[in-house]
Amino acid sequence: MQLALTYDDVLLVPRRSDIASRRDVDTSTRLTPRLALAIPILSANMDTVTEWRMAEAMALEGGLGVIHRFMSIPQQVAEIGRVKCPQHDLMQDVQTLGPHRPLRDAWALMARSGATSVLVVEPDHRLVGILTLRDLLFEDAPDKPVREVMTRGDQLITAPVGTSYEQAKRLLHEHRIEKLPLVDEQGRLRGLITARDLVRVYQHPRATRDGAGRLRVGAAVGVVGDYLERAEALVAAGVDVLVVDIAHGHSEQALRAVREIKRRFPDVDLVAGNVATAQGTVDLIEAGADAVKVGVGPGAACTTRIVTGVGVPQLTAVLNCVRAARPYRVPIIADGGIRTPGDMAKALAAGAAAVMVGSLLAGTDESPGETVLRDGQRYKVYRGMASEGATIDRYRRLGLGIDEASFDARVPEGVETIVPYRGQVSDVLFELVGGLRSCMSYLGAHNLTELVESAEFVQITPAGQRESRPHALDTY
Ligand code: XMP
Repeated sequence: MQLALTYDDVLLVPRRSDIASRRDVDTSTRLTPRLALAIPILSANMDTVTEWRMAEAMALEGGLGVIHRFMSIPQQVAEIGRVKCPQHDLMQDVQTLGPHRPLRDAWALMARSGATSVLVVEPDHRLVGILTLRDLLFEDAPDKPVREVMTRGDQLITAPVGTSYEQAKRLLHEHRIEKLPLVDEQGRLRGLITARDLVRVYQHPRATRDGAGRLRVGAAVGVVGDYLERAEALVAAGVDVLVVDIAHGHSEQALRAVREIKRRFPDVDLVAGNVATAQGTVDLIEAGADAVKVGVGPGAACTTRIVTGVGVPQLTAVLNCVRAARPYRVPIIADGGIRTPGDMAKALAAGAAAVMVGSLLAGTDESPGETVLRDGQRYKVYRGMASEGATIDRYRRLGLGIDEASFDARVPEGVETIVPYRGQVSDVLFELVGGLRSCMSYLGAHNLTELVESAEFVQITPAGQRESRPHALDTY
């Protein structure tokens, strides 16, 4: 019987290093042979972790988000669209008002939404003007209609739907304006690009972008039902990576799905998983996977190992799969069980090209769902995708009754829980990457390839684990 270890069972041994600053190391990686990332982190394809907002934040920081598949095909396509072409579908964030409404309503709308302008539209969405906070500041007649104060449509600079950020930047600069409404051929308002949007985009030089400068995004598909139709729609929407997502990736169903997707869409990068063995890795690669996702049961909200007795402690799983994938030069993604920056550093030192993170990102502003208050602390909901709640929701969304649900619904392999609110994704990633950079400087590794080459693991005992954690208070 092989001894199998996980992150807490080991430490990395420090080595002689010529790295003077943590800034001098390169954390970039290749997720697939074609797709490079500035930071080796993916957000998990779970319904409490990754929808468009998370995917956008991950890509801006140099990682990648994988949009979960527990929604209809049109919804998932729309999520992709919001990451790839945000200005096309921003109507949800654009504040509009009719021209006959009183200024009082414009004030209220701006106060409620935090917007500094409202676009004035007729009921058929034709754009007739813009009203900014500046226009309102000097008005003291709250009943005056908006149309008397707004900048009128014929004086407005607008652009057609599909305008790129580059073109928008030029127009905003040329006309010294801050808002660029996007309109269709009939003059109907379809979106808005603001100077603030551009600052956000251009402040992230390391963002994960495609050849056309658009943010990259991944999306998950299953292995049965509408998976091919879904994959086709996602590919048409411009998805950069498809992730075949199934708990047991080493099943005939999964292998068949990977083969079929690769055959139909040979030009799209395909990640497949999850597996925890060398043979599982080889079989997925031979079926067509460009990267393999590894992890059976290590996740924070997983109960697979308790419920089924199946799994492989994650460090051993990663090491075995990395070794099996090396001759094929196919990257491994270590999925689940990352609780600290040190865990991530160990996964990468073991040879994973990237990690996938769920619970650590679930508590951020960009994850789906609201924050909840408990005993004065803020939390967000995090649930395993095989938890009872997630399974029941899934069946509801598919229009099936709960009694029609498969046995999955009754034998959950995940839990529903809350995780502490953690602020913005960028803060969490800063901490994770900061830990990784320090690890690399302790090992004298200038990049992730050197990290693997210089990694020497030692197995530690429970006494070593105790010593590794803060324990000064034990003496009191
Ligand atoms: P972390 O530890 O980052 O793990 O929260 C995220 C990963 O957990 C997996 N996952 C599950 N595993 N039952 C499981 O056994 C579940 O219900 C479940 N939901 C998610 C998944 O691989 C994810 O990326």
